[in-house]
Amino acid sequence: MDLTDFRTPELDALAQEIIPARHFEFSTETARDRFFNDTRMLDAKQWVHNAFRTNPQSMLDHMIGNLALTGTEDLLDLGCGNAFILEGLRPHFAEGTITGLDIAPAVLEAAAQRLRGTATPCRWIEGSADDLSMLGDNAFDRVMANYMIHYVPDLDRCFTEVRRVMRDGGIFQLTTDRTDSMLEMYQVHFAALKAMNAPEDLFKASPKGRLSLTNGGQLLGKHFDQVETVVWQDQLRFTDPEPFMAFYQVGHNHCCASSEPDARLTDGFFHELRDRVRTQVLEAIADAGYFAVTKYTGSFLCR
Ligand SMILES: C[S@@+](CC[C@H](N)C(=O)[O-])C[C@H]1O[C@@H](n2cnc3c(N)ncnc32)[C@H](O)[C@@H]1O
Repeated sequence: MDLTDFRTPELDALAQEIIPARHFEFSTETARDRFFNDTRMLDAKQWVHNAFRTNPQSMLDHMIGNLALTGTEDLLDLGCGNAFILEGLRPHFAEGTITGLDIAPAVLEAAAQRLRGTATPCRWIEGSADDLSMLGDNAFDRVMANYMIHYVPDLDRCFTEVRRVMRDGGIFQLTTDRTDSMLEMYQVHFAALKAMNAPEDLFKASPKGRLSLTNGGQLLGKHFDQVETVVWQDQLRFTDPEPFMAFYQVGHNHCCASSEPDARLTDGFFHELRDRVRTQVLEAIADAGYFAVTKYTGSFLCR
């Protein structure tokens, strides 16, 4: 039995029942000006994913396995955020180079600070992943786009550009989720929304539906000779509701309900929403000993 295959048939059935086909969509501008104009959202997610995970293989271990690094690669990270992933990978290609590109200056600055003073040369570029015109042909051995592709306006242009800047024999790793990843968070969120008769348009899945682990292979297959999918699951377990509440509120903007200003949704609305979510989390902790949030994520490895 694989102890890291957290998805039981019961969870699969629940996902069918609660995850809507419709998903949120956000622009690059929303990402730059609202979500990543500081590092709070990234900090909340990264802390909780690390502190509460139960898979002994971390997301970084998964990526280290995928990237087959030999130590001297030139690596480009599209939407590098605060370089949390780059910091973990860097010792595995310490004699190579890092190029981090991101649309949001605030997180790019945090990335530069995080890797400041390391021996691996770093270059930080502010820009959009679908315009790599500042980069030469055949310049990189590895290209990554982790948890960011759903924000990129022109996906075909982005993948054509990745093909151009990547050397023969290189690997492009695109990491994303299934839209039913973390379904227990959506379950308590949707139950609370329902009890509050909330607007119908809030009942939507994660924005990663735009290019998810389920539908991404088809689009990537148009641009790359080989597309392999490597799944990586985890289960976060909480015995105290507060870290989960921070993850839900700050890390996920209440499952996207507070992502953009909406005159219908007052502070009082979100206060009640959180109270209702917290109550369900406490009930799960009382029943099962912990509240579980099951991640279903993975990477496309394109060659
Ligand atoms: C969820 S974060 C992921 C950060 C990092 N890859 C990680 O996995 O830790 C998404 C990142 O994509 C960036 N982003 C959004 N739209 C972008 C675009 N069109 N081009 C480049 N970066 C973009 C955001 O600023 C943010 O840093």
